[in-house]
Amino acid sequence: MAHAFGCAAAEYDDLAALQRQIGDRLLTGLPARSLPGWMMDLGAGTGWCSRHLDRRYPDRPLLVLDIAAGMLRQVQSRSFRNLPGLLVGDMEALPLASGCAGLVVSNLALQWCVDPAGAMAEMARVLQPGGRLLLTTFVSGTLEELRQAWSEVDDYTHVNEFLDVHRLDEYLAAAGFHHWEVSVHTMSLAYDSLLGLFRELKGIGAHNVTEHRPRHLMGKGRLRSLEKSYPKVSGRINASFVVAYVTAIR
Ligand SMILES: C[S@@+](CC[C@H](N)C(=O)[O-])C[C@H]1O[C@@H](n2cnc3c(N)ncnc32)[C@H](O)[C@@H]1O
Repeated sequence: MAHAFGCAAAEYDDLAALQRQIGDRLLTGLPARSLPGWMMDLGAGTGWCSRHLDRRYPDRPLLVLDIAAGMLRQVQSRSFRNLPGLLVGDMEALPLASGCAGLVVSNLALQWCVDPAGAMAEMARVLQPGGRLLLTTFVSGTLEELRQAWSEVDDYTHVNEFLDVHRLDEYLAAAGFHHWEVSVHTMSLAYDSLLGLFRELKGIGAHNVTEHRPRHLMGKGRLRSLEKSYPKVSGRINASFVVAYVTAIR
């Protein structure tokens, strides 16, 4: 996983319009004033949300964490008002003291965690009482058209499994959050070809990382079969991205 994202790092920003749009929407939920303690951007990628936090709350220290060192190298090359702390680390096992953060932001990283409940518990642990979490994740229904089209071609798992949105309530409660809201927003994006969709998924490190993925390359014949079974609207390929937006108070 870290390797896939590390490889995608250099191209990430050119291909991450969707992430940016979702991140911007998430950040509209930021509190009016800064909260005591550290601000953290977990699974920060190239630091789109980090830069926003840096500008918005210049009085607070910022920690930018990602599992892929390549992503953090991109963060390092951007300008910040205040130098952020950079940490290569796993959000499922944060190497950080309990209760040190006032604000945790995580845009589209939770869906790549092996143990999303554990990651949520870690976010609750590092937040101080009254601290805020703002998080987005892709949930089930994402890339459903692609999953269905593949199921007509072969029996492999080609599309990552996404969380059932109802699990988020369980995870938030178990982690010890007091109040939270989960809202779901579906985006449908159109591509000229399947290759266009695959390029986007690969560029953002989100190509198939499931255990039962096929180990061979996709030949032209299989691509043609897939293209045939993929539903089209006015000749274009639509892909659904179902996003859960979470705001929670510790
Ligand atoms: C789709 S990108 C989103 C990046 C960024 N938050 C944004 O809005 O552009 C997901 C990021 O999560 C990171 N990631 C995946 N699993 C992680 C984990 N267990 N711990 C920390 N970062 C992780 C990846 O390396 C990648 O940079």
